[in-house]
Amino acid sequence: MSDSFKQPIVRFSPSRGAESPDVWGVYEPDTGSVQYICADPGSKRAGLIDVVWNFDPQSYSTSSASADQILDIVREKDLSVEWVLDTHPHADHLMASDYLKQRTDAPTAIGEKVREIAGLWSRIYHLPHAFDPDRDFDRLFSEGETFSIGDMEARVLLSPGHTLGSITFVVGDAAFVHDTLMYPDVGTSRADFPGGDAEQLWETTQTLLQLPAQTRLFIGHDYGTSERQEPQWEATVSEHRSHNVHVKDGTRREDWLELRRGRDATLPLPDRMLAALQVNLRGGRLPEPEADGRHYLKLPVNHFSTPQSD
Ligand SMILES: [Fe+2]
Repeated sequence: MSDSFKQPIVRFSPSRGAESPDVWGVYEPDTGSVQYICADPGSKRAGLIDVVWNFDPQSYSTSSASADQILDIVREKDLSVEWVLDTHPHADHLMASDYLKQRTDAPTAIGEKVREIAGLWSRIYHLPHAFDPDRDFDRLFSEGETFSIGDMEARVLLSPGHTLGSITFVVGDAAFVHDTLMYPDVGTSRADFPGGDAEQLWETTQTLLQLPAQTRLFIGHDYGTSERQEPQWEATVSEHRSHNVHVKDGTRREDWLELRRGRDATLPLPDRMLAALQVNLRGGRLPEPEADGRHYLKLPVNHFSTPQSD
């Protein structure tokens, strides 16, 4: 992997006219995540999307370096944060949503089906009362709901498959699809986490590919390919429809399902997953400190098995 995959690269995708947002994508190299600032160029109001709270899986220490980088860009560009948004409770990284809310006063939001995801993970962790999305997020969006970022309208599309409650934010000609499509030369995201469903993910990709051809799709992760030397995250619907190696036009559903399920069976779980979900389902907060003032996480032993290797 080339060195550019180890840098927190920032790329700007400018507004293309009326009802089209300015978008900054910021690559987080430890987890291969792409974090976004989606701004209305007129009012300078912005939504922050899928921002990472850095977590070292060896030492179990957190850092706000990525979130601070995002806030530096917000300040530099004279933006004001109106929303702290997440597409789903992430498995590969801790969410910076609570950290960002404290620093910006902006409300946090995620999809309403996070209630079901919280139920599922509360059984896995045997933490029956720990998660309450209605308490821990300011807003839970339902399918088709709209909200404003400045003078622009943002629309919520339910996009299940990777999780049962993932959502896409569509803002003018930009769509933040996170773990659905990957970059066209990589294909699609995995669908094997608890609550994931490959058949639903197929339907989701087909819905996203029906957006207008010039819609800029912004994905959530990139780990590159053996041929590509730099992280990439932005491609149009039309580029995906002609080049996406998993779902380009003409792909048969059955072929994709076989490919997706075969590949998912070989993928290891993300190293941060069991730490991440119990923080993310608390709206990006650690559990309350114990009597010694420290925070502790809980880990289920032998709940998950090691995948077969390739
Ligand atoms: Fe994810």
